[in-house]
Amino acid sequence: MSILVTGGAGFIGANFVLDWLAQSNEPIVNLDKLTYAGNLDNLASLQGDGRHTFVQGDIGDRVLLDRLLAEHHPRAVLHFAAESHVDRSIHGPEDFIQTNVLGSFRLLEAVRGYWNTLPETEKAAFRFLHVSTDEVYGSLSPTDPAFAETHRYEPNSPYSASKAASDHLVRAWHHTFGLPVLTTNCSNNYGPYHFPEKLIPLMIVNALAGKPLPVYGDGMQVRDWLYVKDHCSAIRRVLQAGRLGETYNVGGWNEKPNIEIVNTVCALLDEMRPRADGQRYATQITYVKDRPGHDRRYAIDARKLEAELGWKPAETFESGIRKTVAWYLANADWVARVQSGAYRDWVSTQYESAA
Ligand code: NAD
Ligand code: DAU
Repeated sequence: MSILVTGGAGFIGANFVLDWLAQSNEPIVNLDKLTYAGNLDNLASLQGDGRHTFVQGDIGDRVLLDRLLAEHHPRAVLHFAAESHVDRSIHGPEDFIQTNVLGSFRLLEAVRGYWNTLPETEKAAFRFLHVSTDEVYGSLSPTDPAFAETHRYEPNSPYSASKAASDHLVRAWHHTFGLPVLTTNCSNNYGPYHFPEKLIPLMIVNALAGKPLPVYGDGMQVRDWLYVKDHCSAIRRVLQAGRLGETYNVGGWNEKPNIEIVNTVCALLDEMRPRADGQRYATQITYVKDRPGHDRRYAIDARKLEAELGWKPAETFESGIRKTVAWYLANADWVARVQSGAYRDWVSTQYESAA
């Protein structure tokens, strides 16, 4: 048996692939387009590992999908691939509609076609797991309870609207066609291999480069942070035991205002890599114009996942953020290559495009 993962060269997908193969010998087929966010450097430790088959391609390519499903006969498809950055969705929403909506639709159709060909026992055991976000629920006021799975959908950005659309497609493919689906809606992840356009890695790399640390608006927007490997363990657990057609919120009960996150990163850097001039990294904090339509607060109520499936995060925010800062300090080459785009040269020498 094998599983097929989409977007497995991105931040969460790569962490998932690495964790999966550290714990299981079940092979992975990894379909990723290698957009700016996809990086095979993340998977360099799997070079020569016969359990990992990487295929460069688009989830919107039906011919490719049909071929991969027929050839590899997966028992599950885990759908991570997406355009994921809110700021980019504000500056150019089209790619988000193309991949997150149309791409997810094409993937669902290909998987439905494949699933219908399976013998009854394999059909019953098959799973399509859709990796989604808490942003589909909109924004909370300071006194609102955390998002439960029953919260209404109220996406506010082009990114979250495109993810909400894909969640609805997944739900409909279950309701109408009986496809055995599961959906997870997770809060903000952080950890190794996080592309340095997102808050935490951007603050680390800018701080070390002596650049300003741009905090949007008043910096009091709240996000609920989860170490990426805890997200991966939640996905494994939902895949294993989630109830068909259900959605599971994933979060670590770690609500923090952005400015507190930035100050924490600065304090860890002061301790682990003090500035040569003896100044504090926090002096680099610069308040800048707010993100348009910026959601004020996200918070995840993860009680369903905890109670039904017995999942618990392994990291606290304190242990996870320390590991994360240490990882970026130890992996300056990774950062330099991501920033220079040099990893693409490596890709072209290692893998052939499926196109
Ligand atoms: P990412 O941007 O780091 O990685 C996305 C990956 O998808 C990249 O490797 C990219 O090359 C690939 N991709 C993009 N378009 C593709 C296409 N058309 N066909 C094939 N591959 C394509 O994103 P991430 O942060 O790892 O997020 C992964 C998933 O988790 C996304 O669905 C995202 O919405 C969801 N999510 C992310 C977070 C978070 O905090 N990062 C939280 C909750 C949910
Ligand atoms: O909540 C889950 C979502 O978290 C995922 O679905 C998205 O894929 C992921 O990108 C993330 O979205 P956010 O918009 O919350 O993440 P980002 O890292 O871009 O921003 C986190 C917060 O920090 C947000 O309130 C905006 C703020 N911010 C961000 C950047 C990049 C700043 O203040 N300054 C910055 O430079």
